[in-house]
Amino acid sequence: MKSDEFVQELLGPIQEFCHSLDGQPPAYSYIPLKSDEERIRVMQSRLFNELRAADLYGTWLRTTPELEVKATMAESAHEEMTHAQLLSRRIRELGHEPFDYKPLPAQIAMFNAMEGLNDTCERLAGLSLAGETVAYYLIQMCLKSPAVPDWIKQPYRRITEDEAEHGSIPQKFLTQYATTPERQDRVRRAVAMRMVLFREYLASLDRWAMGKAAW
Ligand SMILES: [Fe+2]
Ligand SMILES: [Fe+2]
Repeated sequence: MKSDEFVQELLGPIQEFCHSLDGQPPAYSYIPLKSDEERIRVMQSRLFNELRAADLYGTWLRTTPELEVKATMAESAHEEMTHAQLLSRRIRELGHEPFDYKPLPAQIAMFNAMEGLNDTCERLAGLSLAGETVAYYLIQMCLKSPAVPDWIKQPYRRITEDEAEHGSIPQKFLTQYATTPERQDRVRRAVAMRMVLFREYLASLDRWAMGKAAW
């Protein structure tokens, strides 16, 4: 399959996943949350994601021979650290400890699975294309919702500028590098894996943040 058509095909299930969340926005979007206590929990969980994403982008530098991809990953690692700083500062300003948080089992599984991807295209597809596209979509939902207080929207207005690129730049690289049937198959599977694990993480965050279960 031609690689530009392939990337378009990849985006289909990711966009479907995003729209499946329209009717019932997850806690991740902050929209259904009723108290600041719940909102701080979600922000702590999302702070963990920013740091874990920074770790992964940084960890992959040495094993990414494609120079342009490597440069983008280095930039993304820095941007994710900036996002982490914005969120941790906001949590502190509200009188809470940003790192008083234990990652949810589904969240650990999701990032460990990403860390296990060894091919540049799989990594770009799983962490960046699939993960960041969904995250970006949910940030837009959050920013548009009157149910979300402005103290949450403030850091995300800044974060969203970077995340748009984290989701879209991988499309260019995948068009360039996912050119063989074998590579395309691995990429398809990496995206599918990320969707499965993201759904589990969102469901777990719903339960925990809204006080219904330990995870
Ligand atoms: Fe980020
Ligand atoms: Fe990002």
